[in-house]
Amino acid sequence: MRISTVGEVLTFAQRAIDRLDAQYMLSHLSGMSRASLIANPDRILDTHVAATFANYVAERANGRPVAQILGSREFYGREFGVDENVLIPRPETEVIVEQVLARISEQNRLKTPASRALSILDLGTGSGALAITLAREIPAASLTAVDISAHALRVASANASRLNARVNFLESNWYLALEGQRYDIIVANPPYVAADDDHLRKGDLRFEPPLALTDGSIDGLESIRTIVAGAPNHLLGEGRLFVEHGYDQAERVRALFAAAGFSDVVSTKDLSGIERVTHGSWRIDV
Ligand SMILES: C[S@@+](CC[C@H](N)C(=O)[O-])C[C@H]1O[C@@H](n2cnc3c(N)ncnc32)[C@H](O)[C@@H]1O
Repeated sequence: MRISTVGEVLTFAQRAIDRLDAQYMLSHLSGMSRASLIANPDRILDTHVAATFANYVAERANGRPVAQILGSREFYGREFGVDENVLIPRPETEVIVEQVLARISEQNRLKTPASRALSILDLGTGSGALAITLAREIPAASLTAVDISAHALRVASANASRLNARVNFLESNWYLALEGQRYDIIVANPPYVAADDDHLRKGDLRFEPPLALTDGSIDGLESIRTIVAGAPNHLLGEGRLFVEHGYDQAERVRALFAAAGFSDVVSTKDLSGIERVTHGSWRIDV
């Protein structure tokens, strides 16, 4: 039987794939931290771990995203199961969570009476990353999450069970199954890549569901137009809509919010300094 050490398998892997991807996958498989892998190149690996790692390296060399190979990705400190039916949760989407939490604390600071559970709707839930995170971070909130993909909803429901989150999942084309329903907060990370964007045919994006990436529109904004225009019919007074968008879409998205009658419209930057999430408040005039 062939004996492999940490150093040997990493050297072999790094000929075919990125060094960090190799370390990350071996860390996941072996239970050793990345620091420990680097510090212990002579450590002998279990033969099953070494053989599985070789398969993972081959898959990664074929372009498959690390998260799909491992079957999970961390989002806001929790592990979400992912497969080829859902978008791999992105760090920039955590901006929505942070902004929602910031607005809620602000309301608490202002001592807004909270006599009933805060209701939150997540449009296009995918793996459930946003809905489940918000359910766990705001235990008093009541969460509804929709997606047009039944496959995605199965992944999201499994994640919610594993992560002990109570979320009401519904199959819906944006608001269609939500007739007459209103919420305090609506969040959405819809598909926003322009249909002719070359990135769709490159790198990891080739392995993610097209429906999660693009709505087929030339400017990538068709879903956001539908979500913003429909929000006034589904927000309670003083409710707030949070939408993630592309790196160059903030100005156009702010214009959509303004045209729909939103006030206090702001775009928040992600960690790369890119305006990534636009949000605004809806006031029902009496
Ligand atoms: C960019 S992914 C976001 C997934 C998840 N919210 C996240 O942030 O990781 C967009 C999601 O919207 C869903 N979607 C696309 N078109 C939709 C529609 N017309 N109605 C509802 N959901 C839709 C896709 O299936 C996909 O799960």
